[in-house]
Amino acid sequence: MGRFVCLLVMGFVSVASTQFIPPYTEDCRADMYPPKGPTFKGDVTWYTIDLDLPPYRRWTALITDKKADLVNMIQAIKDLANAFVPSGKLIEMVDVTLPMMVDTLPYPFSDEIKGIAKASDVPLGEVVLFNIFYEVFTVCTSVIAEDPNGNLIHGRNMDFGLFLGWDIKNRSWIISEKLKPLVVNVDFRRNNKTVFKATNFAGYVGMLTGIKPHTFTLTMNERFSLDGGYIGILEWILGTRDGMWMSFLTRSVLENATSYEEAKNHLAQKKLLAPAYFILGGNQTGQGCIITRSRLVSLDILEIDLKLGRWYVLETNYDHWKEPFFLDNRRTPAMKCMNQTTQKNITPKTIYDMLSTKPVLNKLTTYTTLMEVSKGRLESYIRDCPNPCMPW
Ligand SMILES: *[C@@H]1O[C@H](CO)[C@@H](O)[C@H](O)[C@H]1NC(C)=O
Ligand SMILES: *[C@@H]1O[C@H](CO)[C@@H](O)[C@H](O)[C@H]1NC(C)=O
Ligand SMILES: *[C@@H]1O[C@H](CO)[C@@H](O)[C@H](O)[C@H]1NC(C)=O
Ligand SMILES: *[C@@H]1O[C@H](CO)[C@@H](O)[C@H](O)[C@H]1NC(C)=O
Ligand SMILES: *[C@@H]1O[C@H](CO)[C@@H](O)[C@H](O)[C@H]1NC(C)=O
Repeated sequence: MGRFVCLLVMGFVSVASTQFIPPYTEDCRADMYPPKGPTFKGDVTWYTIDLDLPPYRRWTALITDKKADLVNMIQAIKDLANAFVPSGKLIEMVDVTLPMMVDTLPYPFSDEIKGIAKASDVPLGEVVLFNIFYEVFTVCTSVIAEDPNGNLIHGRNMDFGLFLGWDIKNRSWIISEKLKPLVVNVDFRRNNKTVFKATNFAGYVGMLTGIKPHTFTLTMNERFSLDGGYIGILEWILGTRDGMWMSFLTRSVLENATSYEEAKNHLAQKKLLAPAYFILGGNQTGQGCIITRSRLVSLDILEIDLKLGRWYVLETNYDHWKEPFFLDNRRTPAMKCMNQTTQKNITPKTIYDMLSTKPVLNKLTTYTTLMEVSKGRLESYIRDCPNPCMPW
């Protein structure tokens, strides 16, 4: 693991120092919505997941549809793993070790993962690996803003695949490209009534972006911390299993929490495997926050506060009280566009404009989601970032 991280860092430094110095920052975009043109790659298909079915059978129809794309994606992960550790030893370990761990995952996740493996004919360990992957390689932008009428609008770019194989010819991240066909919108139902809706990657049982209509909206962004993610995940593999996978927590909250306050308490208090940012919006004025988590505790909760002039909260992948990493400053351009827009003009459309401005939009961006809690609405778009464009 140590060597793996080290290789990644070296690769990163050499990439940063040679190829991508121009920052490709552009003026705040306008009139990008409805989505069109070269930054819009396509709409996202809706599926229904019936929570009344046994977990093993819930994903069958969706996975049967997406099987070829899922197999393609997992092959790309294996090729990368084999490039790091030639001889196939790493994948051999995944195929032998991870299946034994699936039963230690809480209900309903272990059964759902087994059902996905069955429906896709992908070896169980590789589906587990695919699910672990998302906990490690997501960098994103999330924002919640309140309009002058007290409506909350929640937007996010899902950037995924950092470090995962730069394709020099295409100037794109191999994994990010392979993920785009796997993006789905999912309507989770009980008694044939919507419980929550989410944008997700087919084959993944955790949630990173979702809405409980008329109640709350939630996104998760990765928080990098050296003592954080890798140690927790290693501990989990070695047998300490009291921490929760972050995206399993967001899934549980979307499925079972019934109010903004309840969601907030769960997200702030449950012990996690790795640090994270949770971006949570409610259904009433002032209900929007960024919860900065360490593995054990909530370090900080930043809330919308109209009295202080804070009509939005915005998170990328750095603690809001610190400067972002200088090679990856998406926060300043994003805030600049929010400030330029002003509260008076904030709508899903103008948030889409902000999320379409480079480098907030970058080569890792797979999808953009817009959510409006009062309308119970979630909409998503597959994105592209034509050159010149920042790799992250
Ligand atoms: C590179 O781009 C071309 C054309 O856009 C595409 O056909 C090809 O599959 C891409 N290669 C990879 C490895 O993604
Ligand atoms: C579930 O609801 C949808 C629309 O809300 C309806 O079209 C469908 O017939 C319902 N299915 C059942 C089994 O009641
Ligand atoms: C939500 O609660 C139900 C009922 O307690 C439980 O069966 C289900 O597993 C929970 N969902 C998640 C994702 O934890
Ligand atoms: C807001 O959410 C609460 C549950 O926390 C619910 O009781 C209330 O009806 C919701 N308000 C609106 C306007 O939907
Ligand atoms: C945006 O406005 C906020 C609040 O006035 C301010 O703190 C922040 O520095 C501004 N950021 C940028 C990039 O303009």
